[in-house]
Amino acid sequence: MSHKDALLRVEQVVMRFGGFRALDGVSFRVAAGEALGLLGPNGSGKTTCINVISGVYPPSAGRVFFADRDITGKAPNLLARMGINRTFQSPRPFLSLTVRENVELAAAYGGRGSLPMGIEDILDFLELREFAEKPAEGLNSAQQKRLDLARALATNPRLVLIDEIAAGLNPLELRKMAQCLRALASRGIALLVVEHLLSFLEEVTDRVIVLNAGREIFEGSLRAARHDQEVIRVFLGTAAHAG
Ligand SMILES: Nc1ncnc2c1ncn2[C@@H]1O[C@H](COP(=O)(O)OP(=O)(O)OP(=O)(O)O)[C@@H](O)[C@H]1O
Ligand SMILES: [Mg+2]
Repeated sequence: MSHKDALLRVEQVVMRFGGFRALDGVSFRVAAGEALGLLGPNGSGKTTCINVISGVYPPSAGRVFFADRDITGKAPNLLARMGINRTFQSPRPFLSLTVRENVELAAAYGGRGSLPMGIEDILDFLELREFAEKPAEGLNSAQQKRLDLARALATNPRLVLIDEIAAGLNPLELRKMAQCLRALASRGIALLVVEHLLSFLEEVTDRVIVLNAGREIFEGSLRAARHDQEVIRVFLGTAAHAG
């Protein structure tokens, strides 16, 4: 992808925790409307990558560019206003607020304004309307994951970073979630999809990168990744799930 086509550019990012490098010089690009998969064994740096892009941690080295602006080290609330939002490996909605209030709060304070999808559209899109007046604490984990995505969409994002949204979903929920993510990409939203479940990645992503110990060891199609000797070695050496 040319420099010009990239909405997000991650360049040589290093994230150190003490002496340990969770990310050790990671570079990649994501275009508007593209779903890029990010996979790798446990502890390979996937969530850290999302944390750096979404502003939770300023990287120890390297730069992050979004829509040609250098956003390295900017805080999450500023990035949300620019159009970057995320979901969490373990969703953490405001438990005592209703589903609708959680989404409204994100729309009111979190985002880029001028929603192309209204709150009701978002609730329908993620099949949350029937729970809209329920406190979030009453939702099961699949519903909380959908609420987490709803909250991110309510900020009118241009880029959504998605951390293991498929884990724990049943086959029907998986298929619906994959369709939701494809629909978002087809509306021009860029997606970075962290996932262990390969069948889900296959449905959702255009391209994948594979991390191992904070370094990128593969970039290309998921089909090619499945046949790559180093990817196979890394996955066989761990308890990573096939799917
Ligand atoms: N805040 C932190 N302080 C210290 N070490 C951290 C911190 N966050 C992550 N790490 C370490 O960085 C490494 C990468 O963690 P990360 O959570 O990014 O992995 P991951 O690829 O998302 O793994 P998983 O598939 O289990 O979610 C791990 O060794 C982790 O312990
Ligand atoms: Mg993780």
